[in-house]
Amino acid sequence: MSLAVNLPGLNMKNPLMPASGCFGFGEDYAKWFDLNELGAIATKAITVEKRTGNATPRTVETPHGMLNAIGLQNPGLAVILQKKLPFLRQYDIPILANVAGSTEEDYETVVKALSESGLCDAIEVNISCPNVKEGGIAFGQDANKIEELTRRLKQVSRVPLYMKLSPNVTSIVDCAKAAVAGGADGLSLINTLVGMRFSPTTGTPILANGVGGLSGGAILPVALRMVYEVRNSVNVPIIGMGGIDKSADVLEFLQAGADAVAVGTAHFKQPTICVDIANELEETITGSGWAWNKRQEVGV
Ligand SMILES: Cc1cc2nc3c(=O)[nH]c(=O)nc-3n(C[C@H](O)[C@H](O)[C@H](O)COP(=O)(O)O)c2cc1C
Repeated sequence: MSLAVNLPGLNMKNPLMPASGCFGFGEDYAKWFDLNELGAIATKAITVEKRTGNATPRTVETPHGMLNAIGLQNPGLAVILQKKLPFLRQYDIPILANVAGSTEEDYETVVKALSESGLCDAIEVNISCPNVKEGGIAFGQDANKIEELTRRLKQVSRVPLYMKLSPNVTSIVDCAKAAVAGGADGLSLINTLVGMRFSPTTGTPILANGVGGLSGGAILPVALRMVYEVRNSVNVPIIGMGGIDKSADVLEFLQAGADAVAVGTAHFKQPTICVDIANELEETITGSGWAWNKRQEVGV
């Protein structure tokens, strides 16, 4: 059975990619395994200017997961175009460049430059970022904004656009429909769920930022529910993610309607997780008796 999947801009040998923010730009992981074995790679968020991120502590463990408030730390568009993406281009894997911003203009600048560079095959737009003009409410929490931003970015992008949906909304379906109405070529879901932890000794939040994004095993059922609901409402490819750490989890995402998947938090305990899962996946799918190849054609 072939595990290959073809999504807009992303011709993948297998349906697995590292999720944005959990794999940097691949350099450290290239010491552990051959990146050519990945289906694709989603980069760390790319912003116009360099960002040093939030104050520490900015991660904390949780039951079956973690909270992070990294704050989109990255070296900025210019360095990424000069060094980070050329490094990844040595490999025979599609690059999904993850983009973040504080204003619509920020997003537009980064999307235009990346798509004209020839150094990425598709763009994933992180809309969980606070919108400076709208008083800090995330772009991804307002369906009208999602549609408007998607339409604007589609006009400047030469490569397919995947809108990465935030789960911190009342209706993920309304957000997915808005992205598709704006012209999204695909959707990624889910980003992290907003959470907090408190120090029992000081009685104050553990994260310097106060709140952080919950990821890992704890969010898997939420992510599956959202992928399922979105799959039944729109007909564009879906990259599913949230809590995956084994091939049986990937099978569930495919059954819920994802066309490909991303693995994030699990990298922090098993750097080779994507390849390990890819090696087991055929047996897991075959053993389940489920006809994956039918799903493969959905939305492509
Ligand atoms: C430390 C960390 C950093 C992240 N950074 C980004 C980011 O820069 N852009 C983005 O779109 N998502 C980011 N995410 C979200 C992940 O890509 C993914 O959507 C989420 O963690 C759910 O998958 P998981 O449970 O497998 O980690 C980050 C997640 C973690 C844990």
